[in-house]
Amino acid sequence: MSTKKRIYAKEIYHFHMNDPQISKDRNPEVISLEGIRIKQMKDEAQQDPNQFWSNCARNLVWFKEWQQVLDWKYPFAKWFCEGKLNAAYNCLDKHLTTNKKNQAAIIWEGEDGETVTITYDQLFRRVNQLANAFKKMGIKKGDRITIYLPMIPELPISMLACARIGAIHSVIFSGFSSQSIIDRVNDAKSKIIITADGGYRRGKIVPLKRIVDDAIKHTSSIEKIIVVKRTHENIIMGEKDIWYENAVNRESSFCPSEWMESNDPLFILYTSGTTGKPKGVVHGTGGYLTHLYNSAKWVFNFNATDVFFCTADIGWVTGHSYIVYAPLMHGVTEVLYEGAPDFPNPDRYWKIVEKHGATILYTTPTALRSYMRYGNEIPNSYDLSSLRLLGTVGEPINPEVWKWYFNVIGKNRCPIIDTWWQTETGGIMISMCPGIESIKMKPGSGTLSLPGIEIEIVDDKGIKIEDGKKGYLTIKKPWPGMLISLWNNNERYKKTYWERVDNSFFAGDFAYQDNDKYIWILGRADDILKVAGHRLGTIELESAFVSHPSIAEAAVTSKSDEIKGETIIAFLVLRKGIASSQNLDTEVNEHIKRTIGPIASAEKIYFVDKLPKTRSGKIMRRLLKSIVNKETIGDISTLEDEASIEEITQELNAINKQL
Ligand code: PRX
Repeated sequence: MSTKKRIYAKEIYHFHMNDPQISKDRNPEVISLEGIRIKQMKDEAQQDPNQFWSNCARNLVWFKEWQQVLDWKYPFAKWFCEGKLNAAYNCLDKHLTTNKKNQAAIIWEGEDGETVTITYDQLFRRVNQLANAFKKMGIKKGDRITIYLPMIPELPISMLACARIGAIHSVIFSGFSSQSIIDRVNDAKSKIIITADGGYRRGKIVPLKRIVDDAIKHTSSIEKIIVVKRTHENIIMGEKDIWYENAVNRESSFCPSEWMESNDPLFILYTSGTTGKPKGVVHGTGGYLTHLYNSAKWVFNFNATDVFFCTADIGWVTGHSYIVYAPLMHGVTEVLYEGAPDFPNPDRYWKIVEKHGATILYTTPTALRSYMRYGNEIPNSYDLSSLRLLGTVGEPINPEVWKWYFNVIGKNRCPIIDTWWQTETGGIMISMCPGIESIKMKPGSGTLSLPGIEIEIVDDKGIKIEDGKKGYLTIKKPWPGMLISLWNNNERYKKTYWERVDNSFFAGDFAYQDNDKYIWILGRADDILKVAGHRLGTIELESAFVSHPSIAEAAVTSKSDEIKGETIIAFLVLRKGIASSQNLDTEVNEHIKRTIGPIASAEKIYFVDKLPKTRSGKIMRRLLKSIVNKETIGDISTLEDEASIEEITQELNAINKQL
């Protein structure tokens, strides 16, 4: 087969598994570990990165070509300098002159099963109307708009309408509560917030507008609140409020696209870091879209007949990149699902795959683990034969779950792409790339980095370590999808990502490379938790606990969990005169749900007299983590040099007694 044919031949996937059980009936053709075509692309990218990334960028529609591919002033990168383009134009307008115009862009399925199909042309018109409405409200290029919506079509429409006029969107996950809105709106100084009267979650209504009303009392920048009717709740509409339908219904369905310089920000997405305040990760336009377009082609090999079902919430980066921008740029039909995987029954994803004929499923290990618990009978009762590719993202996937996904869902015929990336990286960095060439898969490893992406595993001093040894995952060269900076905080950007290891991006994950150079991700190396794949900072959680009037101090750690990967365990010291009780436990958890959101509620709360700390006052979370996970603690003195060992041992013993 010629190389060219092979790149785009979507049906040919050569497997060669490590696992004899899986590989038994597979195609006996053994593909080299790093395929020829991939190797060739990687060599090209290494020899002439500017040429390589230019070729990638040419897959987008540019109003004006760039003058310089990369302007790298460590650690700030500018990609495709002076190039002009528009994200919404690349997702919508370019399809209007093709046969995609009247094809489905979004098949939306509500939690109650209602289905709405929106064609590319309809999506174009709805985006343009809202863009015009924004303009009428005085929004200009560079202004920020906060979007706090459930998974309904108005969410991607709002994002694209911002992109159309050059406003910067800041989407807040609709599972977050008021404190998260306050922090994010105040940091971005958003002028508009778009929300809904309510959202559905497992049949219950989440009062989104009420949460926004509570939050904006503590903000000063919001001029207008646009409210989508979803649940038809009785809500109070104030002076600043306007119904979405009233804002758009008289607007023209054409709004010219703003010519954005490639490095103009497209969005801010807040994510948890290792301090109390979430970080506003800023992504640009040309570099980000180039990374997305090409990674999607290499990894998902999108084609005209695909029905793509990405189960992420758009409130997180997976939804931004691989629900909104990448699939729409490719003109794919995608399924947007409003609700939970197990509502009303633990079969919802399979039902959706069958009903809409999804060809690619992109989901999380947490969802798979929870489905696996219900056995094979449920997925086996659905016709999943439309699937051709299975993806996973957000957390390490256990090999057993990988195999279940491969055997039971993919019926041994769909490759699995285990994609590693982060909010900061913008797009996929490590994955098998069936769109280029299939290589040998190993359950639990994402395989290799994408062409142009150079990963190195290093030790504490930033020195490359031997294969097989655990170290820190770093990225050696700038890449187009990388964050531009942190919103209004270049210093924090520099410090967090570029000062741990000289000249490399520090991803904050532990990983190792095996003898075949395959990369295995071992989880976070910092104070960030992954609860059901959602990223939460321990210090952010601790601040939320301490904001309860009965709590004096808090230490948060995590415990391994069969379904969610990790769950939150909190150690709390009460204020003087307050006694612990079951009621207080519930009350504190309710407080956390109200301040951060239901995903942040603790699995277990321990009320303790003291927290183990170093003499300089640093909480020794790693020790607490070892205790709750029943791991050996080892020599404390080597862990924290300033600690008073005796005191800590006593405290740990006291805590241990409670567990
Ligand atoms: O720890 C890694 C984990 O998720 C982190 C990034 O989280 P977030 O910015 O919320 O983005 C998640 C969706 C891209 C990483 O630092 N992670 C992501 N993908 C994988 C993963 N861990 C293991 N395997 C993956 N495939």
